[in-house]
Amino acid sequence: PFEIVVANRGVTVQVPADETALQALTRAGIDVMWSCEQGVCGSCVTAVLEGRPDHRDQYLTEADRTRNDCFMPCCSRSLTPRLVIEV
Ligand code: FES
Repeated sequence: PFEIVVANRGVTVQVPADETALQALTRAGIDVMWSCEQGVCGSCVTAVLEGRPDHRDQYLTEADRTRNDCFMPCCSRSLTPRLVIEV
């Protein structure tokens, strides 16, 4: 489990092990565009301000991952206890 702080909404969302970040955000009323839910389409790309995503998608490039400024909430998780994002 980890938590996501949605900086521009002032909302903190807990992401339990059995839920994706996208599901947790949607449950909290945060709208993120999505389509494939498998980490391939790119629809759900979300800005990361702090923390290190655990990238599990097949969409972002190595350069994207190195910049550490976005992640795909439909399938990726977090290596840090908290991710701060902007939607
Ligand atoms: Fe397609 Fe996340 S919904 S990559």
